[in-house]
Amino acid sequence: MSWKNSEHRWGGVSQLLHWLIVLLILGQGTVGLLMVDMLNSPDKIRIYALHKSFGLTILALVALRLLWRLFTGAPRPVPGMPRWQERAAAFTHWLLYALLFAIPLSGWLFNSAAGYPLQWFGLFNLPPLAGKDEALREAAVAAHAWLFWLLVTVALVHAAAAFYHHLFQRDATLARMLPRGWLRTDAIDPVSTPPASTPKDPRDA
Ligand code: HEM
Ligand code: HEM
Repeated sequence: MSWKNSEHRWGGVSQLLHWLIVLLILGQGTVGLLMVDMLNSPDKIRIYALHKSFGLTILALVALRLLWRLFTGAPRPVPGMPRWQERAAAFTHWLLYALLFAIPLSGWLFNSAAGYPLQWFGLFNLPPLAGKDEALREAAVAAHAWLFWLLVTVALVHAAAAFYHHLFQRDATLARMLPRGWLRTDAIDPVSTPPASTPKDPRDA
């Protein structure tokens, strides 16, 4: 498997980061929603601290992922995709990136405006993004929750589009975000597992 993205498929690094971030967001969102209703206790403080540390980790992974994408480019749209779908996919992907940055940053802003210190797994401190400010604290916490629900909505549409492409269009949209050979498609391009007689596309090696 190639680690870099090619013209035809996502490389190992982009795939790994995509699915790792999906899993982390699922865990982070679930913990976030449950922790706010906990009664005050040392456990609640510990869970809040873990939520913040994992959130900062997601922020770093998203930055890494975006840099990697800018460095290795993205595959071309799957052959035969109508222009409007190409545009909708590009718009959705950039919106997802924007939300992946905005959610942890709004959490960090909320923490700063509340005047709390911020540590990463107890190892080092991060600087505040703003001074103590009650109005900003309220706006940031509201933004944190609303942006999360917007991400859930956009990600559901995004995942539905991926399944639609795989099940009904039978193209390589989903297959090329997964390791080679995990999914079979009808695509007549080098993304689907090639028949034994077809030489492997050297551009994807
Ligand atoms: C992608 C990363 C993150 C996701 C998906 C996420 C998600 C959530 C969710 C769903 C809630 C519950 C909101 C509610 O119902 O009121 C929440 C609460 C919270 N989050 Fe995050 N969060 C992330 C990153 C962060 C970061 C980086 C910080 C701080 C540095 C942070 C600090 C907080 C705090 C303090 C609360 C509790 C707010 C309250 O007590 O009302 N989050 N988060
Ligand atoms: C929290 C949930 C998710 C987020 C934040 C997310 C985010 C993203 C982003 C930002 C991209 C664009 C990559 C780039 O241009 O660099 C992408 C691509 C992709 N995602 Fe997701 N995703 C999520 C969940 C899912 C799920 C559940 C599926 C499928 C079941 C999926 C399937 C795909 C596929 C197939 C691509 C590549 C599309 C293409 O090649 O045109 N994603 N995702």
